Amino acid sequence: MKKTVVVLGTQWGDEGKGKIVDLLTEDSHAVVRYQGGHNAGHTLIINDEKTVLHLIPSGILRDGVKCYIGNGVVIEPKALIKEITQLEVSGVDVQSRLYISQSAPVIMPYHITLDQLREKAKGKDAIGTTGRGIGPAYEDKVARRGIRIGDLLDPELLKAQLTKVLAYHNFVIENYHNSEPLDFNEVYQAALEQADFIRDMCVDVTGELHKHLENDEKLLMEGAQGSLLDIDHGTYPFVTSSNTTSGSASTGSGLGATHIDYVLGITKAYTTRVGGGPFPTELFDEDGAELAKRGVEFGATTGRARRCGWLDLVALKRAVQVNGVTGLCVTKLDVLDTFETIKVCTSYGQDAFPSAACDFDKVQTEYQSLPGWQSSTRGITEAGDLPAEAKALLKVIEDFTGAPVHMVSTGPDRCENIIIENPMK
Ligand code: GDP
Ligand code: IMO
Ligand code: MG
Repeated sequence: MKKTVVVLGTQWGDEGKGKIVDLLTEDSHAVVRYQGGHNAGHTLIINDEKTVLHLIPSGILRDGVKCYIGNGVVIEPKALIKEITQLEVSGVDVQSRLYISQSAPVIMPYHITLDQLREKAKGKDAIGTTGRGIGPAYEDKVARRGIRIGDLLDPELLKAQLTKVLAYHNFVIENYHNSEPLDFNEVYQAALEQADFIRDMCVDVTGELHKHLENDEKLLMEGAQGSLLDIDHGTYPFVTSSNTTSGSASTGSGLGATHIDYVLGITKAYTTRVGGGPFPTELFDEDGAELAKRGVEFGATTGRARRCGWLDLVALKRAVQVNGVTGLCVTKLDVLDTFETIKVCTSYGQDAFPSAACDFDKVQTEYQSLPGWQSSTRGITEAGDLPAEAKALLKVIEDFTGAPVHMVSTGPDRCENIIIENPMK
């Protein structure tokens, strides 16, 4: 029996992780976010009602499922409180089921200022970050000067830490970026109020997760972003500032590698990317426009149009390898319903997988063309009901990557799925 399942993105994010996490929580006791922050946007559609989650785990819409934010997540308290409040206004009970790690780094206002100032200074070379302060907050963690949730809860400790770290960042803001410094009292007072709001939800998350394991309960680990945005394995420097690959599920929560029983890799049946950076299979023609239109490819966090392209099997295979993917979930298959021909990238024209953005820019993509099915797969729930051409596409994905397709998503709603093998069972 599988007890701990990791669900993560194998592309550049927005693969449909939130939808699948929500679906699989039916069989889990708790859901854990372990990296990233409110740069994520995870969309859940249940009976036509849409909810977009940024920091709160995608288990919150299931009564009785506990939701944990682990030590690996960077937390912006204002954004978290806003999300909690919005959910509670719509009738979801959040505060009694949400648990926050005291070891999680806090995204402070100066991180957001710095993120935005740096992007502006980069001009055309900008990464296209979400502007949420993610990178600067992770930098402070690694530099060992970061404020953590536990520090936020202690007014005197917070005052001492903030005095030092704000002086450091204000120096850069004023003297390097020629911008306005942040006011200590404003930042401190806001942080104290936020601390009071979240205080009762802060616990030893690692300890709680191990209690679940001791009780033989099932955990679902919810990844954010995608494998090609990983700080080590992605298209550096056009990446996010955390490890988005499966190792983070351990380090970002306090589970051991041996506690992970299954890794579900989510991949769209095509590819999208939001923000700057290399994208070998990107389309600039009417096929790309059709994918964007049918897939409604606009960012769930920033509203930016997503760049679209064919499925990149070379990158997917690499993601299967670095994550140790047990099974794949192919999402948005229905978006391909109208295509006469579907292409998948099968070679970069070189043996070595590129290690940085400048190497990705040199690849020579080669494609395999497959006949489209040109009929509706929307809402299909039985694998046997898929058109032969769709089955053939899934087989090509399995053969190329070496990972079995265990799930297929055929529409945005919670009930629109084919479950070939349930990862939680
Ligand atoms: P995440 O960040 O990985 O959780 O994905 P997002 O929520 O940012 O983006 C996925 C988008 O695709 C959302 O708008 C979902 O409602 C939608 N979606 C998910 N699965 C499917 C599917 O199988 N078919 C279609 N048409 N839309 C889907
Ligand atoms: P989910 O969880 C897609 C991208 C940004 C930018 C880069 C760095 O919804 O899949 P950051 O703000 O993290 O420093 O930005 O990473 N990015 C995402 N793209 N989906 C996401 O999350 C993303 N989170 C960050 O667009 O290119
Ligand atoms: Mg998203």
